[in-house]
Amino acid sequence: MPETSRPLIVGNWKMNGGKLALKELGAMIEGYDAGLRARVELLVCPPATLLHAASVIALGSGIRIGAQDCHAEAGGAHTGDLAAAMLADCGATHVLAGHSERRQNHGETDAAVSAKAAAAHAAGAIAVVCVGETAQQRRDAATIAVVKRQLSRSLPLSAIVENTIIAYEPVWAIGTGLTPSSADIAEVHAALRAGLKRRFGKRAGEMRILYGGSVKPGNAREILGLANVNGALVGGASLKAADFLAIAKAC
Ligand code: PGA
Repeated sequence: MPETSRPLIVGNWKMNGGKLALKELGAMIEGYDAGLRARVELLVCPPATLLHAASVIALGSGIRIGAQDCHAEAGGAHTGDLAAAMLADCGATHVLAGHSERRQNHGETDAAVSAKAAAAHAAGAIAVVCVGETAQQRRDAATIAVVKRQLSRSLPLSAIVENTIIAYEPVWAIGTGLTPSSADIAEVHAALRAGLKRRFGKRAGEMRILYGGSVKPGNAREILGLANVNGALVGGASLKAADFLAIAKAC
């Protein structure tokens, strides 16, 4: 069964939450009943400090646990950094690569993102590779060119349909309450699918392309119903189990 037949909702907790936040994960697990499991896959990416505890709590629940970033190298003298294998050792099955907050706040280039995705693959994890235009790039009508360039440069040679997920996240839509129109989202996702076809041929249809940026219970149904939208990457609304589950139920 192709991965795209079941949407994936990813919760990105960013730099939020201590041990108490694990209660929300518990509530998510409680609400993730058999009916919902059959329809939608869930992944929660807590801060790295909670990865191990979260993966223990989520064991057997069907909710998978992912990391928000990794270092490109397998180990060594990199104070404060975390290797993908260390994250996998804590239970992370997925690693986000190239979230716009990493690209912007840490100067991560497409080449750096590609190296991180390759590191995630080497550790046996699935890389969620993020792309997206800035407000200025959208005003300049450069959106499609920007995301296609990011896509082709951010995917490492190790990327195959089984170990890679794409997330389209317009930078201006993240945490702002703004979203592109449905037509705009569908246009970008179609362009990304076409880019994947060039790289992966027929199997490109099996690779998930998520939308992210101000996804909420109120807009999830419309966004998740669009062609080539195979799930969502959710920031703010993933911090509360009720909102996250409401988005999952919108699938
Ligand atoms: P948001 O964040 O849902 O709070 O807009 C999305 C993201 O950054 O992944």
